[in-house]
Amino acid sequence: MATTILVGAQWGDEGKGKIIDVLTEQAEVVVRTQGGNNAGHTVFVGAQKYVLHLIPSGILRTGKTCIIGNGVVIDPVSLVQEIDGLVKIGIQIEGQLLVSETAHVVFPFHRILDEQREILKGKNKIGTTKRGIGPAYGDKAARTGLRMADLVNPTRFRELFSIRIKEQNEVLKALGAEPMDFDKIHSEYRAAGDRLKPYVTNTVVKLHEALQRKASILFEGAQGTFLDIDHGTYPYVTSSNTTAGGACTGSGMPPNRIDLVVGVVKAYTTRVGEGPLPTENNFIADLLHGMGREFGATTGRPRRCGWYDSVATRHATMVNGIDHLAVTNLDGLDTLETIKVAVAYKVGSERLEYIPNDVAVLAQCEPIYEEFPGWQSPTTQARKWEDLPARAQTYLEAIARFTGAKLKIVSVGPSREQTFFL
Ligand code: GDP
Ligand code: IMO
Ligand code: MG
Repeated sequence: MATTILVGAQWGDEGKGKIIDVLTEQAEVVVRTQGGNNAGHTVFVGAQKYVLHLIPSGILRTGKTCIIGNGVVIDPVSLVQEIDGLVKIGIQIEGQLLVSETAHVVFPFHRILDEQREILKGKNKIGTTKRGIGPAYGDKAARTGLRMADLVNPTRFRELFSIRIKEQNEVLKALGAEPMDFDKIHSEYRAAGDRLKPYVTNTVVKLHEALQRKASILFEGAQGTFLDIDHGTYPYVTSSNTTAGGACTGSGMPPNRIDLVVGVVKAYTTRVGEGPLPTENNFIADLLHGMGREFGATTGRPRRCGWYDSVATRHATMVNGIDHLAVTNLDGLDTLETIKVAVAYKVGSERLEYIPNDVAVLAQCEPIYEEFPGWQSPTTQARKWEDLPARAQTYLEAIARFTGAKLKIVSVGPSREQTFFL
C-alpha cells in the first residue's frame, strides 16, 4: 500500500475509523497525528464494537505498529483507561503502541477551562466535547505546556507541574472555579506516567525507520476538514489542523514522501456541536435518528444531519488534495424517494461555488440542490459495485464528480465485510 493520509472531508464522524480498520489490513504502521480524546472512531469486528479515542484504529489488527504522534494532545489517565479496556477484551497493546515523547499532555484544568469558556460564551458556545482540547493546544502554542517526556520523568514533572498548577489555579479562581489540588492530580498523573513510560519514545525516528524499510504507512485523521483550526468554520472548529498537512507536522513525516490522500465522506452530512451547516434539515435528521443512527461516539449527543454538501466536499478536495474518495453510510439513504445534493450556495443574488470564509456569510447561505431519484431498496448486502442498484451507482458517481475525487471505496454498513473497492 502507498503511504496514505486519510482525512475526514466533512465535519467529523465520516466513518474514518471503519475505513482505517479496513485499510490497515494492507498497512504496517498506523499513525494518529492530531486531536485528542475528542475523537471517537467506531470499528466493528464481528459483533464486537470498539470506540477508539486516542489509540489508532489499526490496533484492532494484530502485528501492526500504532503510533500516537507529536501532534496529538494526550490525556494520560484517559489513555491508560483506553489501553486497559482494550487489553481486557484481548487486544494486544504491548509491542504495538508507540507514543511520542513530544506530544502535549492534557490536564484536568484544561477540561475545566474548556467548560468555563463555553459557559462564558453563552449562546455563542462552540459545543466542544469538554475534553480540554482547546486549552491544551493553547498551552502548546503559548509554550507553557508539558509534554509526555516531562510526564514520565518524576523529578522534572514535579517541578514543572507545580509551576503550571500555581498559574492555572489563579486563572481558575478569577473565573470563579475551584482551584485544583496539586497532590491529587500529581499522584494520578505520575501513576499514569509510569504506566505509559514503556510506550513513550522518539516516534519520529521510528517513523523514519519504517520509511527506510519501505513499510506501508497510514495516517489516521481525526475530526474533519471543516473542524480544522485554519480551514474550518472558525470559531466553530477544533484546535488542530485536521486537514492533510496536519499529518506531516503532527508526525514528522516529510510531505514529499506522501503518495496518496483518501477523503472519507458520509453519503449525507452530519455535524455535532454548534456552527453553520448549510444543508441541515429536520427531515433527514428525523429519518436517521429514527433508525437509531447518528448519535455521537464520544459524547452521545445527537448529530445534526443534512444532505450531501458538495460545495463543502469540493473545498475539502482542494485543501487536502484528495485523490480517492471513500463514501460511507450509503445505506442510510436506502428508503428515500428523492435525494438532494447541494451543488452551490446562494447568498442574496450571488451564487457561491466555494465555502465562504466568513461564518456569518456561511450561516446565510442557502443551498442550491440537484435532485436524484432514490433506489428504495436495501444496499447493506452489496459486496461489489455491480450489486448496487443503478440509481445508487448514479448517485455515488455524481457526488464523486461534484467533489472532484475518484470514487474508490464504498461502505454499506458498519462491519468490515460491508465495504468494497472500485
Ligand atoms: P469517525 O469518527 O469518522 O471514525 O466516525 P464515527 O465512528 O464517529 O461515526 C461513524 C458511525 O457510522 C459509526 O457508528 C460507524 O459504526 C458507522 N458506520 C460507518 N460506516 C457505515 C456504513 O457504511 N453504514 C452504516 N450503517 N454505519 C456505518
Ligand atoms: P472524530 O475524530 C465530530 C467537534 C465538537 C465541537 C468542535 C470543538 O470522531 O470525527 P473540541 O472538543 O475539539 O474542542 O470541540 O469540534 N468535534 C468533533 N465532531 N467528530 C469528532 O471527532 C470531533 N472532535 C471534535 O463537537 O463542535
Ligand atoms: Mg467520531
